Amino acid sequence: MSSLTWIVLSSVLLWTGAETFRPQPAAFNPEPGLKAVFTGDFLIGAALNTSQILEQDSLAKDLIPVQFNSVTAENIMKCEIIHPGWSDYNFTLADKPAEYAEKRQMHFVGHTLIWHSQLAPFIRQIKSPDSLDLFMKNHITTIASRYKGKVDGWDVVNEALEENGSMRKSIFFNLLGESYIEKAFQYAQAAAPGTELYYNDYNIEQPAKRAGAIALVKRLKEKGIRIDGVGIQGHWSIHSLNLQHIEESVKEFSALGVKVMFTELDLTVLPNPWDLRGADVNQNFESNPAMNPYPQGLPDSVNAVLADKYKALFALFLKHKDRISRVTFWGVSDRNSWLNNWPIRNRTNYPLVFDRNYQPKPAYYSILSLKK
Ligand code: XIL
Repeated sequence: MSSLTWIVLSSVLLWTGAETFRPQPAAFNPEPGLKAVFTGDFLIGAALNTSQILEQDSLAKDLIPVQFNSVTAENIMKCEIIHPGWSDYNFTLADKPAEYAEKRQMHFVGHTLIWHSQLAPFIRQIKSPDSLDLFMKNHITTIASRYKGKVDGWDVVNEALEENGSMRKSIFFNLLGESYIEKAFQYAQAAAPGTELYYNDYNIEQPAKRAGAIALVKRLKEKGIRIDGVGIQGHWSIHSLNLQHIEESVKEFSALGVKVMFTELDLTVLPNPWDLRGADVNQNFESNPAMNPYPQGLPDSVNAVLADKYKALFALFLKHKDRISRVTFWGVSDRNSWLNNWPIRNRTNYPLVFDRNYQPKPAYYSILSLKK
C-alpha cells in the first residue's frame, strides 16, 4: 500500500468513525529459524509436551522442526510414567520422543533418570538402602539401555542440591548418602557408554548452590566417574535476571572440563510469591488478581522488557559459545508453558519467544538480531 493510499484510507476510517484500522503485521516467515541462525554456536532445543510429540498440535507441527534441533520430553520419560511399578515399565509413550527425534535427525536429551519429583508412588515405600540401590540400578540400566544410540545425552541426576549447596534430603540421599550420585552415573555409563551424562539443576548459577554443584562434579571426576556436562535449568524472571552469576557459572563449570548447557530456559514476567526463585515443582500457592496481572494480554512495555532480557542473555551465550553446547527452551509457546500453572495455577504467563498462537514475539526477533 502506498503512503498516499494509506493516508486516504486512514482518514476515511477516522471520518466514518470506524474502529481504528491497523495494518496486519507481515506474515511470519519462519526461515531461517533459530536453529539455522545459531548453527555452529550451540544447539537450540525445546521441551515438547505429549501432543507436540504425537504431532496432534497442528500449529506446533511445522514450527518445531524449523526452529529447534534438539528435543527434550517435558514429562513422558519421567519415572512416574516410564516405570510405574517395581517390575512394570511402560514404554508406549516414552518411546515416542525418541522416534520423533530420530525421524527428524534431531539431537535428543533424555530427561531424567534420578529425580526426587514425579517418582512412581511405589518408590516411597522403599525403606532399605539395598532395595533403593537395586531400584536405581534396574531403572537406569533398563531405560538407558533401551535408548542407547537414541538418546544423545541423559540428565542422569536432576536437582540433587539444596539452595545452600548442600545435598538435598531426598529419598536417595536419606537412604544412600551422597554416593547415590556416583552410583547413578556409573550405572548410566555401564548401560549407555556412548551417551553423554549430565547433572542438571536450577539456581546453580547462584553462588552457594553453584559451589555445591562444582563440588559434586569434582567428586565424580576425582573418583574417575564420567560426567560430560552440567545443565543450568534457567527458570528465571525478567525481574531478577542476574547475568553476572550466569557468566561466572559458565566460566567455573567449563573450567572443570564439562560442557555447559542451558536446559530449561524460560523467563517469567509475572510476580512470584515472596519473590520465589527457582523451580521446585512441589511448590504451589494460592492465586489472587495481583499475582495474575495480564490475563488479557501482555502490555507492549513488558513485552519489550522480555525482548531486552532475552537479547542480553543470548548475547552472553554467544560470548561463551565455545563453552556452551546447547540452549533449550522449556516449552515451545506461551500457550503450553508450565509457568501458566506453577507456582500458582491458572495464570497467564508469557515466558517464551513464541506466543499463544505460535507467532514470534519481539523476544524472538531480538535474539535473531544478534546474528545480523
Ligand atoms: C515440569 C513440567 O514442565 C510440568 O509439566 C510438570 O507438571 C512438572 O515438571 N525442573 C525440571 C522439569 O527438571 O522436569 C520440570 O518440568 C520443571 C522444573
